[in-house]
Amino acid sequence: MKLIYFGHSSFQVLMQGKSILIDPFLSGNELAKDIVDVDTIEADYILLSHAHQDHSLDVERIAKRTGAVIIGVWEIYDHYTQKGLKAHPMNIGGKWEFEFGTVKMVNAVHSSSFPDGKYGGVVGGFVVWNDDVCFYYAGDTALTLDMQLIPMTCHPLDFAILPIGDNFTMGYDDALIASDFIQCDRIVGCHYDTFPYVKIDHEAAINAFKTENKELILLDPGKSIELSNES
Ligand code: NI
Ligand code: MN
Repeated sequence: MKLIYFGHSSFQVLMQGKSILIDPFLSGNELAKDIVDVDTIEADYILLSHAHQDHSLDVERIAKRTGAVIIGVWEIYDHYTQKGLKAHPMNIGGKWEFEFGTVKMVNAVHSSSFPDGKYGGVVGGFVVWNDDVCFYYAGDTALTLDMQLIPMTCHPLDFAILPIGDNFTMGYDDALIASDFIQCDRIVGCHYDTFPYVKIDHEAAINAFKTENKELILLDPGKSIELSNES
């Protein structure tokens, strides 16, 4: 599978011949707007962790053009299907088999409202797996003991995408503890540098992981990596 980073918490995952967007916040992101075209990007599915604008901003625009299926908690399903868009409703603890693999929605500790203030349901993260790969996208979350359930209930993780920007989510120090909870030593950072509140010291973050023989990958926006259980 290929993982492409667009800055903040926005990713594109190419797997099993499908394009899956994660939390597309592109047109409003200074770090993304020159490297990705919201009006041409391909999407078969959109995984939406919660309704906050820095995750959901371009969901409607992309889903309207592509017909992508929006995967999220019930309230997110309700919001987008009322606009005539395709969606698949889930909730915490449930899993479903999609064309590209199995998605399990797991707990996150955070808040969720749409930009107009409407309740967005509970916040979630996603564990996604198929025969090739298994990864965890944590969404916006604090460090929580519930992360310990992931290795008990999902396939072994090849990598995990964790927020590291602090202030609104866990910082990299707590993400390091999270990597123990989820039993995964290869972490891709997200939710950092976009705004002054979440600016981080890259070297300090990478070194904190190195000290514990773990890997923190900080992708430049627009950059991609190939990840699977073979690599
Ligand atoms: Ni948020
Ligand atoms: Mn956020």
